[in-house]
Amino acid sequence: MNRPVMGGVAPLNAPSYVKQQKLLNWVAEIAALTKPDRIYWCDGSQEEYDRLCAEMVAAGTMKKLNEAKRPNSYLACSDPSDVARVEDRTFICSEKQEDAGPTNNWMAPAEMRTTLNALFDGCMRGRTMYVVPFSMGPLGSPIAHIGVELSDSPYVAVNMRIMTRMGKAVYDVLGETGEFVPCVHTVGKPLAAGEQDVPWPCNPTKYIVHYPETREIWSFGSGYGGNALLGKKCFALRIASTMGRDQGWLAEHMLILGVESPEGKKHYVAAAFPSACGKTNFAMLIPPKAFNGWKVTTIGDDIAWIKPGADGRLYAINPEAGYFGVAPGTNMSSNANCMSSLNANTIFTNVALTDDGDVWWEGMTKEAPAHLIDWQGKDWTPESAKETGRKAAHPNARFTVSATQNPVIDPAWDDPAGVPISAFIFGGRRSTTVPLVTEARDWVEGVYMAATMGSETTAAAAGQQGVVRRDPFAMLPFAGYNMSDYFQHWLNIGKKIEASPAEQPKIFCVNWFRTDENGKFVWPGFGDNMRVLKWMLDRIEGKAGGVEHIFGMTPRYDDLKWDGIDFTREQFDRITSIDTAAWEAELKLHAELFDKLKHNLPKELASTKAELEKRLAA
Ligand code: GTP
Ligand code: SPV
Ligand code: MN
Repeated sequence: MNRPVMGGVAPLNAPSYVKQQKLLNWVAEIAALTKPDRIYWCDGSQEEYDRLCAEMVAAGTMKKLNEAKRPNSYLACSDPSDVARVEDRTFICSEKQEDAGPTNNWMAPAEMRTTLNALFDGCMRGRTMYVVPFSMGPLGSPIAHIGVELSDSPYVAVNMRIMTRMGKAVYDVLGETGEFVPCVHTVGKPLAAGEQDVPWPCNPTKYIVHYPETREIWSFGSGYGGNALLGKKCFALRIASTMGRDQGWLAEHMLILGVESPEGKKHYVAAAFPSACGKTNFAMLIPPKAFNGWKVTTIGDDIAWIKPGADGRLYAINPEAGYFGVAPGTNMSSNANCMSSLNANTIFTNVALTDDGDVWWEGMTKEAPAHLIDWQGKDWTPESAKETGRKAAHPNARFTVSATQNPVIDPAWDDPAGVPISAFIFGGRRSTTVPLVTEARDWVEGVYMAATMGSETTAAAAGQQGVVRRDPFAMLPFAGYNMSDYFQHWLNIGKKIEASPAEQPKIFCVNWFRTDENGKFVWPGFGDNMRVLKWMLDRIEGKAGGVEHIFGMTPRYDDLKWDGIDFTREQFDRITSIDTAAWEAELKLHAELFDKLKHNLPKELASTKAELEKRLAA
């Protein structure tokens, strides 16, 4: 084996098409620190993808699914301790703590570097270091940004090929002097000589670290999702949000969809919902039958980069190339587009394996198969699950699939010019209090709604689930700088576009998740969200009515189109009613948030709150 002698350094092995000395030096420097046995430069080819997957099958990290049922697809099952993002181990290491703000974990960069240097020393021993070049945004477009991830996880390499524009062509764009964001990732489990590897190596100690000023990312100890696929939350949100603050644009946790009326009028909307609160599903929505002629198409399902255009409108692109989506709950009736995206060429993580080599997860079919191997490799039957409550798939089980497999991908999905946004939607998961839909009367009121949004926590992040927390703009875990400064940045963008004659996007707030006394969702959600979307578009075009309530405009029952559904006025009242006592309690939580964020909190938000309180008291 081509193993360096103890203490030796693996040969750099750089291909001749890599022309940038700074990059070569950095790879050599990280290899000298982490001491991998080998360095492998990913070219992004199908042959390479197939080979790495085959190696992971041999190593027990992945299983190849039944080729006849799910061609070219795999199942990976992670260590039970490594199943979600780790927010309490995520750090924004700006020079000044106040730049990270009270919602982020912070450590001084010099101190963090000392900590990480010790942890990363020799962390890749016995492993291969993959050099993964990627572009967020269409390759070579003026709005795209390049990153290079060094990772000792082949799972990361193959997932990055789906999630980003990954491969050799990135080096042509990078050239000798182009800029890239350096991303260092390790599972944090070096192997001693002769030590047998485990299927999912990871480390109980985890650090997900960002240096916004120098635009670097370092991740230690996890192989899962946003902890490890560093182009996604780390780069495209945390680092990109700080770039956007400095350069006058926005990096947001938003889906982007196109919606076309039967008359052929098309709008694009961007929607921010917290993790596991419905972005992927909304982005691929299939309108109900009664909405014959309406078409929804996907630009992106998780992240939007938004820039003011020369015409004064806001233009959005999806910096990603694939979807890392939640599997549980996805089925042919909730999201047929998503299901058919997953027919082939998909990596599944932490779902269950059927006896005929296919996948299953909770909610995929009404009845569970009689026998499964669950995500932890154990026998699972519906009967045993009833007794133990064990899930066959982990609640944060996911699929990784290329955006091009989405049957309703928008023709403009990788247009570097982006698409003009007509509306922003913000929505949390709230079983009570927050009505189905509210339209902000102006930009500032919209920013207030987004800033004070609350949502019940989900399995997408490690920690307690189902507790309401403030999640401003669905960006609580993803803002790379001080949240109050981020609010100010949104207000500034509003002022900038307000000054232009172009139509400004409207801002709406939604909640699909109000429940009844039995804890069941009252609103059918999914495709029926089209009914709410249509009302928003009609509002934009001045065609729909509504009433003003204490914090915005809301539709009356008769303002929505109810064809093809039996949804009563009484049910509508249940999900739109404003409970004064609940809102008084809610405003206390707004006050708590504003108190926490008082340093640099824009005064417009405090005055919007005062107005709200006045209306509530009246
Ligand atoms: P991240 O990838 O974590 O950012 O999540 P996401 O916002 O894309 O959420 P996703 O669309 O994957 O949905 C998460 C869960 O919510 C899934 O189990 C869905 O089935 C469920 N869900 C999505 N939309 C709706 C809806 O309109 N109503 C209800 N009741 N559930 C929904
Ligand atoms: C989220 O948690 O919002 C996700 C999944 O989209 S992850 O990539 O793990 O961040
Ligand atoms: Mn997300």
